[in-house]
Amino acid sequence: MKVSGRHYRTIWLQENDPRVVRIIDQRDLPHRFVIEDLSTVDEAARAIAEMHVRGAGLIGAAAGFGMYIAALEASGLAREPFLDALEEAGRQLRATRPTAVNLEWAVRRQLEALRAADRVETMVRIARATAQEIADEDAEHCRRIGEHGLVLIEEISRRKGGARVNVLTHCNAGWLAFVDYGTATAPIYAAHDAGIDVHVWVDETRPRNQGARLTAWELVHHGVPHTVVADNTGGHLMQHGEVDLVITGTDRTTFTGDVANKIGTYLKALAAHDNGVPFYVALPSSSFDWTMRDGVAEIPIEQREGGEVSHIRGRYEDRILDVRLTPEGSPAANFAFDVTPARLVTALITERGICDACEEGVLGLYPEQR
Ligand code: MRU
Repeated sequence: MKVSGRHYRTIWLQENDPRVVRIIDQRDLPHRFVIEDLSTVDEAARAIAEMHVRGAGLIGAAAGFGMYIAALEASGLAREPFLDALEEAGRQLRATRPTAVNLEWAVRRQLEALRAADRVETMVRIARATAQEIADEDAEHCRRIGEHGLVLIEEISRRKGGARVNVLTHCNAGWLAFVDYGTATAPIYAAHDAGIDVHVWVDETRPRNQGARLTAWELVHHGVPHTVVADNTGGHLMQHGEVDLVITGTDRTTFTGDVANKIGTYLKALAAHDNGVPFYVALPSSSFDWTMRDGVAEIPIEQREGGEVSHIRGRYEDRILDVRLTPEGSPAANFAFDVTPARLVTALITERGICDACEEGVLGLYPEQR
């Protein structure tokens, strides 16, 4: 994705010092574009927990690079203590955010790759290569999701005789939530680039406003027509024929098709169902949970501190400020995700193609997981 004409990924190794991982610190976007350097496991864990980086794919990539940093930190040890140190780093990284399954997937992938080697020197090389592979694969999977999702938008555009296609999305499952392209946004970018008249309704997505701050910022930079709406607007728009399809991302989807995504997604799916609006979820295979069958009962839902609800961040003149919204003394609860049952999901858009949100559909695309 380009920012002011320059191509960026959301995470990369510093060119002249590959011991340093660089990220875009998303906390101050869209007001400030800040690049941050990470060179310790503590810094990587903090960047994930405090949401300098966020979004399922990027959390996975950050965990992959975090494990590479852990390997550098432990490179003076013998093989067994080295592996113990890496296990410990994996535990530290995994504890940062419980819902996005990409995090544990990336840590597991690193540990499996490392255990296969004999010498610590080789293991450090493997950790770097694996981190880079996770990031490259994420970008490539998102690019392919764009190609598959484009077909859906093309069909609607054809049906409407070329009239504007309105997509509603929730939170930020865009370029900033992955390494590049995004998931929910990839088909939108592909459609826009193909000359289709596409417009996006962007849910603001309280409490952290990833829609209003991040998705809107991405769409501005890509030149895609869009409108930011307050979170509760979707149902009204759907009742009045203003939404042709919904596309969201996901932080964890069971192999049976239940979708955990940013809080409020379930309500959008209910409104879409009631109004006959197709509700698609876009995800790379790294966001599937191959062990959980019942998403509502089993997916861990992160609860964050209430300050994100009682306060709101914005820009005032040159300063970025958090201001209070609620009375002093009103407790606030902050459930970060909810689960949309598979029956409300029209289909899943993956890097391998589009499938029904059910066990047969998902395992049909990923037979190796049977
Ligand atoms: O809490 P976040 O910002 O890490 O949440 C992730 C999200 O942005 C959404 O839930 C998104 O739709 C899925 S992650 C691509």
